[in-house]
Formats: sequence, C-alpha cells, structure tokens
Amino acid sequence: ENDVFKYYSEGEWKVSSSGKSVQVINPTTRKTQYKVQACTQEEVNQVMESSRMAQKSWAKTPLWKRAEMLHKAGAILKDHKKPIAECLVKEIAKPATDALTEVVRSGDFVSYCAEEGVRILGKGEFLVSDSFPGNDRTKYCLTSKVPLGVVLAIPPFNYPVNLAVSKIAPALIAGNSLVLKPPTQGAVAALHMVHCFHMAGFPKGLISCVTGKGSEIGDFLTMHPGINCISFTGGDTGISISKKAGMIPLQMELGGKDACIVLDDADLDLAASCIVKGGFSYSGQRCTAVKVVLVVESVADALVKKVNEKVEKLSVGAPEDDCDITPVVTEFSSNFIEALVMDAKQKGATLCQEYRREGNLIWPLLLDNVRSDMRIAWEEPFGPVLPVIRINSVEEGIRHCNHSNFGLQGCVFTKDINRAIQISDAMEIGTVQINSAPARGPDHFPFQGLKDSGIGSQGSIFVWECCVFYAGLIVEKR
Ligand code: G3H
Repeated sequence: ENDVFKYYSEGEWKVSSSGKSVQVINPTTRKTQYKVQACTQEEVNQVMESSRMAQKSWAKTPLWKRAEMLHKAGAILKDHKKPIAECLVKEIAKPATDALTEVVRSGDFVSYCAEEGVRILGKGEFLVSDSFPGNDRTKYCLTSKVPLGVVLAIPPFNYPVNLAVSKIAPALIAGNSLVLKPPTQGAVAALHMVHCFHMAGFPKGLISCVTGKGSEIGDFLTMHPGINCISFTGGDTGISISKKAGMIPLQMELGGKDACIVLDDADLDLAASCIVKGGFSYSGQRCTAVKVVLVVESVADALVKKVNEKVEKLSVGAPEDDCDITPVVTEFSSNFIEALVMDAKQKGATLCQEYRREGNLIWPLLLDNVRSDMRIAWEEPFGPVLPVIRINSVEEGIRHCNHSNFGLQGCVFTKDINRAIQISDAMEIGTVQINSAPARGPDHFPFQGLKDSGIGSQGSIFVWECCVFYAGLIVEKR
C-alpha cells in the first residue's frame, strides 16, 4: 500500500505487519486525506527495545554534540516549513499562515533547547555536610542531572508539531531517547517533522514514531514497562493515563477553561481585541483560548458591543484561504460544540449572532447572559463559541474562575496594576496574563496548569525536571 505513510522505527521507515491503516480525515472536505500505518503491539515492543539500546549510547554522547544535532534538526525543520504546514492545513484545518508559524516556532524551540540545555544540563551542584544541623564538614556531595531513559511523547491534534517538539527537544538534549505517538489528525505533519530529525542524522532508534489506533496501542504504550517518563498533552485521556501509568514521572497538559475577568476601569478596546484573538484564533481550538468572559455589569453592554463588532469581521471558510474561522477538527467535536450552544440557548442565553453550521464549519458565536447552570459556563467547547457571564463584583469572577475543575491560564483587564496583581494572586491557575490574552508562548516560558489542567511544566528551562533525575555522588573525608 504505497499511499499509506510509513512509521519510523530503528532509523527506518517501515510498513506495519498488521496490513491495516488508519484514516486521517480532512476536517474541511470530511474525506480521507491521508492514511497512516496501524502499528501492532509487537512493533511497539521492537521500538521500545531499540529505543532503550539507543539511549544508552546517546547518554554518553557529549552534551555539545547532542546540542549540535538538535541545532541541525531545528534548522532542517524550518527549511521544510512549507510541506509540513500544508499537512497541517489538510489534516487539522489550521489556517495557512498559522500553520507556517507553528513550524517555524517549533524549529526555533528545538534550537533554543539545545542552547539552554548546554548551560543548564552542563552544571551540577556542590553541597557540604555542615550546612545541615548536627554535621561536621566531613562529606561533600556532587550532583548532576542524569537522563531518565525512554520518554514517551503524546502531543494533541491542535499543535501536532509544536507540542511534539516541546517534548522531543528537552528529552533528547537531556540524554533520553524518544518514542512519539502522534495524534491521528496531525500524524502526517508529525511524520514529516520526524523526518527532519532523521535528516539531521540522529542515531538509529533514538527517536521513533508509531502511528495507530488508540484502542490497539494506546494503553499498551502508556503502560509499557520500557517507558521511563510520559509527556502528554490532550484531554481527559490524560487523567486515565495518570491512573494507569507506573511509577514514572508524568508531565501533562490537559486543557483549560481560561477565564477573562474584565473590570470597570479596563481599556475596553484592548480587552475586546484580546477576547476576540484569544477566544477565536484557530477557531477556539487552543487549550489557552479564552473560554469564558467574566465582565462586571457596569461595562458589560459596552464590552459585548465591541466584541460583537470584531466577531462580525472574522472571515469564515477554508484554511487554505487563511480564514480566521475554519472547520473544527471532527464531526464529533462539531456535535459537542453544538450541544453546548443548544443547552445554553434553551436555558436562556442570548445568542449575539445567529447559530450557523455547515459540516464541521461553525460560525463564530458570542453567547451573552450565560449563567452557571449552563454547561458552557464550565465545559471546554474547543470551538468558536464564547460565553459571557455578567458579574456583580470582581470577587464573583474570581469565585467562578476558582470553582472550575481546570486551572491553566486566565487574564485580567484593568488599568490598576495593584488590583491586577491582587486578582492574579487570587486566581487558582498556572499563569495569569495582565491586559493580554492567555497564550502559551513565547515557548520558553513556563507552561503549566493546576487541578485537571495537568501536572508538571513545559517550556524550555522548566521541563528539565521531568527529563532528568538528580544523581548525587557523595565523597566522605576520612
Ligand atoms: O493548545 C495548547 C497550546 O499549547 C497553546 O499554545 O497559546 O501558543 O496557542 P498557544
């Protein structure tokens, strides 16, 4: 089957012995765009074995050489931005310009990790025993950062390249090997990205990429005894992985319900721009999208009017045409979004635009007067529909934010920096943006969530904790 993309194992592109494939459906046409191999558990076992072997010698490869190879991979990735971005357009309906940006920022991140890794991983600590009560200066301890072994990376459909390299680059520079299981939507872009690492000349088996059905290899991968660390980004699956995984470090980012609190003294034009950018870019399919606006009643009418003016101007259509709003990833997702809208409508929310859907394409929609008995007040639509809750006090907004089972990011709009900082401190979330929309990037910033939004941190210098353990060498003076 020549038209099925091969998987990557032992430094080679292979056809699965299963003889089966998995279809990648184009969200726009709703037709099969690509096919990828449906790998078997036996093939996963082979990948694990070669990954384990490759890691042993990679850990002994000088840090500067590892960095050199990553710099090379980052550059190759950027050189191949066009074909990779084209896959993102076809597989996940990412607007063409955003697709290019995703690849470029990914290449930059790989290089940044190489550069930071040399400095951070190249340093250890020196401790002396008499700093702890009851001890004389008889012992010295040297610490160094040691790789964990084989890291399993599972990125989500919305950033199949960027959120893959966010896991791959730190793991590799720290001396680990890497097994990638890309999402089905986005698998071909991920395979192209892996090819860039292949071209950079990494040793055989150091990086592998297995594709297939979650039902066949999902649990098998995450519960595999050969895995020493899992880095996952996605939805509820992460919670079930955390329950099933063995005693290994986990880094997870599992979505959010990012609240945008708007105070009465806010710059409403700025707030409206950030709400539209934050809520509707990539059709709301970002974990950091603004997912609920909490605006004080006195400025609510003015803010809603400004947001609506901008929503009307969003272009709706195909990702190839670089439209602002493009089809959401699957029919399942469209139906879920629609159900949230219908629930809110039935319970009395004001639909500021007419609800419109054609296939997976959902027109942008602002829902005003949303109340906490509506599902959309709490659930994450991952689509171009944004609820507005009018609040009587800032405290009410903070309470709503903290009542969520998510705690990824959020934002607050006010001209009073002291109030902004007080509110930020009170919001139980990973990151608060003051007078700007939530966003992960720049990619070297720490990115982490509380509660059901995840465990551990992504970013450049913050992720090392997940990729290494601290080994101590103690010398006793006699
Ligand atoms: O969906 C999660 C992404 O990591 C968010 O990245 O804020 O740069 O869109 P972004």
